[in-house]
Order: sequence, then C-alpha cells, then structure tokens
Amino acid sequence: MNDGHLHTPTGRMSVHRPQDYWYVACLSSELKSKPKSIRLWGSAIVLFRDQNGTPKALLDRCSHRNVPLSKGKCVEGHLQCPYHGWEFDGEGQCVKIPALEGESKQDKRKVPSFATCEQQGHIWIFAKANTEPNHQPFSFPHYQDSAYSHIPFQATFQGTMHANLENILDVPHTAFLHKGLFRGVERNLIQTEIRRFADRAECQYFGEPRPEGLLGKLLAPNGGAIEHFDRFILPSIAQVEYRLEDRNIVVSNCLTPISDTEVKMYTVVAVKVRVWTWLLKPLVLPFALRVVKQDQEMLDTQLACIEDFGGEAFNYTEVDVLGSSISRLLKRASQEAIPVSPIPTEQVAESVLRGQLWA
Ligand code: FES
Ligand SMILES: [Fe+2]
Repeated sequence: MNDGHLHTPTGRMSVHRPQDYWYVACLSSELKSKPKSIRLWGSAIVLFRDQNGTPKALLDRCSHRNVPLSKGKCVEGHLQCPYHGWEFDGEGQCVKIPALEGESKQDKRKVPSFATCEQQGHIWIFAKANTEPNHQPFSFPHYQDSAYSHIPFQATFQGTMHANLENILDVPHTAFLHKGLFRGVERNLIQTEIRRFADRAECQYFGEPRPEGLLGKLLAPNGGAIEHFDRFILPSIAQVEYRLEDRNIVVSNCLTPISDTEVKMYTVVAVKVRVWTWLLKPLVLPFALRVVKQDQEMLDTQLACIEDFGGEAFNYTEVDVLGSSISRLLKRASQEAIPVSPIPTEQVAESVLRGQLWA
C-alpha cells in the first residue's frame, strides 16, 4: 500500500529456490572435452563428460584446498584438479591422489554431485545435490515430429525467476510494451479460463482475433480466431501456444536461475505452418530477438527500481491471469518435492476460474 511516506522499504523480493527440480545447465554443443562452469542461485557447478560422453555435474570446488575443478581438465573420464591433481569421477568420488600411497576414496573427500540428463540438444541438471530425481526433465513438444521446425535460442535477463516467468506469461504487457509486434491498436474483449493443476497452471484465451505482426501472418494468413494457451510448468517453464486449424506455434521457455536476480532462458520454438522450413529461422529469429530486447530492458529497469526502493510493492488484478498461480506453485515447490508430470497429461484440474480481459 502507498501510505504516502517517501521510500518505505518492504524488504520483500519474490525469491524462490525450488531445488527438487531440473534446470537447463547448457546446450549439448557447449559441453565438449573441457569442463564447463555454470551457476545455479550463485553456486558454481562444474560439468564434464565421462568416458562414455555422458554429462556429469559436481559442485565446482575441490574437496582438498577448494580450487575450482572447472579450472582443471578431463583425464580418462575423470575430472582432475589443477592444484595437486586429485581426480574425481562423475559421482564426485575422489578416485586418485597422485602423492598418496594407498586408497584415495573416502566419504569426506567426496564432492557433492548432481543428477544430469541430456536430451533434445540440452543438458539438464537436478538442482539438489546427491539426490535421485523423482521425475524426468521437461521435454520440448513435437520434437520428433517432422511436420514441425524447431528454432532454439537463448537469452539472459535480470530480475527474479518469478518476475521473469510473470513477464513471459503476462498478456496485458504485450499490447503495450510490444505494441505492433503482437497486437495492434484495436482492442478486443477476450474470455479467459485458468486451470490449476498440482504441478502447473494453464490459461486458455477465447475469442482472440489473429495477432498482429509476423506471428499472425504465419499462423493465419487469411485471418480468423486463434486458440491461445499460456502455461506455467514447475519449476520454471513458461510456454505459449497458438493454434489455428492445422497450424501450430509452441514457444517453450525454460529458465535457469543463475542467481536470485538473474536468469538464463533456453527457448525452443516449435513451428508447424505452411511456410518453407528454410524461411522460418530468418523470419522468426529477428522477431523473437526484438521482443526479447524490449523485455530485457524492462526487466533491468524493474529490478533497478525494486532494489532502489529496498523491496517489491506489487499490486495484482484479475487480468494478471497466471500471476497468482505462479507465486503459489513456486512457494509450494520450494517447500516440497512435487513430481512434474510429462505433458500432455490426462490430469483433471484442481480448479477452474473464468474471467475476461482487454487485449
Ligand atoms: S586443491 Fe584440488 S587437489 Fe589440492
Ligand atoms: Fe514481453
């Protein structure tokens, strides 16, 4: 509430750390024969490939004298520290100490390890160390379907994971911040239906005319009403889908929290439209990058303002359709390990909420 006082810090930031979940660590193509360091909520994690080429992930800190293991190298599928040459396997066991006569394996020398999974050109890690995952990572839809083209891209954004998820799934800002790119001057009253599930929330928009700009032209060259869905899937996937007859565009954005106030977004756009495949990438990428740039600038500005005022003081309305579901799910997932179902599922919604908005 604005109580009329100047600068009343709330100290609040919507920082959530759901740890029993998968996050994209990097692209498959970014992990070759050298170890690679990444960050998750500020902690350094080292990735490397073992002798079979399988990605492995350890805390990036040698258990001997705390040198980053990512500064070392891979030796016969093990990670070798650059200081005294200790070697660790993919499970974090110390398998060799060059100067020591006798057994090197000891529990206290073990480095925490993270489960990994490589699929669809991305390497995922499970954020809680030394834990057997209770579900599979998110899988990009229609990946095996040759009727679809897949366009991956990545971008880094300032702001909490929560602020970034809200931004991607926030319809009212598209007409304003991205004016002309999605929606034009004419406004329409659109019906909404929000469905909440244990591991995700979805909003379907009814009566939405063809979007403006490139997206609309690709989807509906002759106009017509489209089907539009926005989805939030735990822990950090924001998905936007448009359908018209047999045409379909699904944008899946997977966010990795590099720190509490910075995310890396791994996106794959799945497109099935009546346009030559070779034309799609040069058409879609510049459009996507323009949208991303506008969002990046706004999220920078938002974070600077929140930090300047010493915390958030947000207001929600009914047209921030998925906002409260995102907060609720992130809060819950930070406290308990909710397994995430593969999509699509046959699950029945826990609740359904109908509304409307101008867009
Ligand atoms: S610090 Fe890594 S081997 Fe000594
Ligand atoms: Fe945006």
